[in-house]
Amino acid sequence: MDRIKVHDKTFKTLITYDSLMEAIDRVAGRIEADFKDSKEVPVLLCILNGSIMFTAELMKRLDIPVELISMKLSSYSGMKSTGKVREVMGLTGSLEGKTVIVIEDIIDSGRTIEDIARIVKEKGAKETRICTMLFKPACYTKDIPIDYVGMEIEDDFIVGFGLDYDELGRNRKDIYVLDKAMKYFILFGPPGAGKGTQATAMVENYNLCHISTGELLRGEIAKGTELGLKAKALIDAGELVPDEVVEGMIENKFKTVTGVSGFLLDGFPRTIAQAQALDAMLAKSQEEVTACVSLMIPDEMIKERIKHRASVEGRADDANDETINNRIRTYHSKTEPLVEYYKNAGKYEEIDGIGTIDEVRGRIADVMDKF
Ligand code: IMP
Ligand code: MG
Repeated sequence: MDRIKVHDKTFKTLITYDSLMEAIDRVAGRIEADFKDSKEVPVLLCILNGSIMFTAELMKRLDIPVELISMKLSSYSGMKSTGKVREVMGLTGSLEGKTVIVIEDIIDSGRTIEDIARIVKEKGAKETRICTMLFKPACYTKDIPIDYVGMEIEDDFIVGFGLDYDELGRNRKDIYVLDKAMKYFILFGPPGAGKGTQATAMVENYNLCHISTGELLRGEIAKGTELGLKAKALIDAGELVPDEVVEGMIENKFKTVTGVSGFLLDGFPRTIAQAQALDAMLAKSQEEVTACVSLMIPDEMIKERIKHRASVEGRADDANDETINNRIRTYHSKTEPLVEYYKNAGKYEEIDGIGTIDEVRGRIADVMDKF
């Protein structure tokens, strides 16, 4: 999939040139069938500027006599219709007594086509038909029947093949849709803060893919892979696994997981270097971290909770005091600077991790609902 930038926004491929051509073939076939036995020579009324490409492709497929007239309306700009009444700025020929096929690039709310249909009638056309390359049925609020539709699309903002975003993007031969970026949440907090427990609900409620580096690594260990063996020695000693290894695993997940609204990173990043690597990874596709959701509990509670977990799950790294203290020290020295890092980026959301699972879950939801 191709990504392009138009002004400040990122767009990704929605309809390829080839499938557009097939849609235009079908529209041309229908117009030809409707007019081939008629005495009328229809006027193709190209609505400038957006319909230039569509009109050209359509015309060259029509094996019947047609006349071409263009018209420009005073336009609105940006990504939302303003609802202002538009005036005719140019009409290159007379519509008096003619059968007119209005050629539009896209019909959204239908306000534009309603204005055009009225104008065409005022200019004396005998009959008006409407043809549009693209149609957003979910947005259409008018009753005017649309005679020829190339393709129906969802309620999304698109550019390309004549369509613009503030006058740019018309020259693209494919059609692109505004990329509503994936969300990247970081679940942050000391060992034993309840991240794993809370992650389950967050993943379900917000359709996220949960990436726990601890789990990914334990998976490798269980499978006895080379990576797993190296990781095991380090984890058992309460040390961190090298950044490149963890980053590689994460990036692989970003690339391969589909059908989610975003990711919930749990246990990553643990260092400033990893946080920078994550920013760089996302910047490649013009994306960024959405927020760092931080569960906070005091050190004493960290120990208590880890010991409790050791008795329940039997994790080797939870077992003795020395390992626990080492993890807490590692956490303070290497991980806490991340709080500053995300605060500076304006992405830090701290949540009080003391309380019942439901209480904490409620606090997390209040934060997540903002994004
Ligand atoms: P309507 O008046 O809401 O039906 O919008 C129709 C006009 O809005 C089109 O002629 C386009 O100029 C513009 N428009 C609507 N949707 C889009 C879009 O997704 N991308 C670019 N322009 C659009
Ligand atoms: Mg436009």
